[in-house]
Amino acid sequence: MFKCLKTIVFTVLVLAFAFGSVQAKELIVGVDANFRPFEFKNEKGEFTGFDVQLFDAIAEDLGLDYKWQTMDFNGIIPALQSKSIDAAIAGITIKSAREEVVDFSHPYYDSGLVILVRADNEDIKSIEDLHDKVVVTKTATTSVDFLKAVPTKDVKLLPNTDNLFMELLTGGADAVFFDSPPLMYYAQNQGQGKVKVVGPLYQGQPYGIAFPQGSELREKVNIALLKMMEDGRYAELYRKWFGSDPK
Ligand code: ARG
Repeated sequence: MFKCLKTIVFTVLVLAFAFGSVQAKELIVGVDANFRPFEFKNEKGEFTGFDVQLFDAIAEDLGLDYKWQTMDFNGIIPALQSKSIDAAIAGITIKSAREEVVDFSHPYYDSGLVILVRADNEDIKSIEDLHDKVVVTKTATTSVDFLKAVPTKDVKLLPNTDNLFMELLTGGADAVFFDSPPLMYYAQNQGQGKVKVVGPLYQGQPYGIAFPQGSELREKVNIALLKMMEDGRYAELYRKWFGSDPK
């Protein structure tokens, strides 16, 4: 009888363990794969960038098993709200309206917004010069909010970063207004000689990793992130992608 009980207890424990490890499911991390140099496919077709390698390092630190889920940027916040993804990293600016519906990690990158024009443009130097111009930016981003207070001829919204550049080059828009890193990166790489960044850097745009509200992952990710900032791994990654020391 006692032996039989022992067998039952043992079997239950084995099952609970097996079931438990099956339950520790792979996390799904949302990303928009079209935001250089944070997340993009390189020439070899590898998915890489500052955000990608930052999250890789955090996950390694925490022993997390996860897979990327690429989506348009405008789908990321809703996917977090419906908990169909467990986290997202995509150069997402921490802002109060978003903080009401998702949770953010500590800021990990200080960004801003700039204007990109065709290389031969001479009459756009700052935001005031956009009053009679067609401006293009990315759907559901902080630039859309910013442009609401800026007089323009028209604001076009497109969901894909590459299309912003196409729109500018083909004359469908006079200027792109968007996050400075992808615009600078484009001006220095694929867009060299064709486009230029003009004017000042507009408004603080701290990027954070986002989670569904109440996610337990956030605190763990914050600890791993701060550890990376202290031990130099963050600075190393920053130098690799931005060519300078973190501010
Ligand atoms: N930082 C801006 C925002 O949060 C734009 C981010 C766009 N990111 C991307 N992966 N396309 O609204």
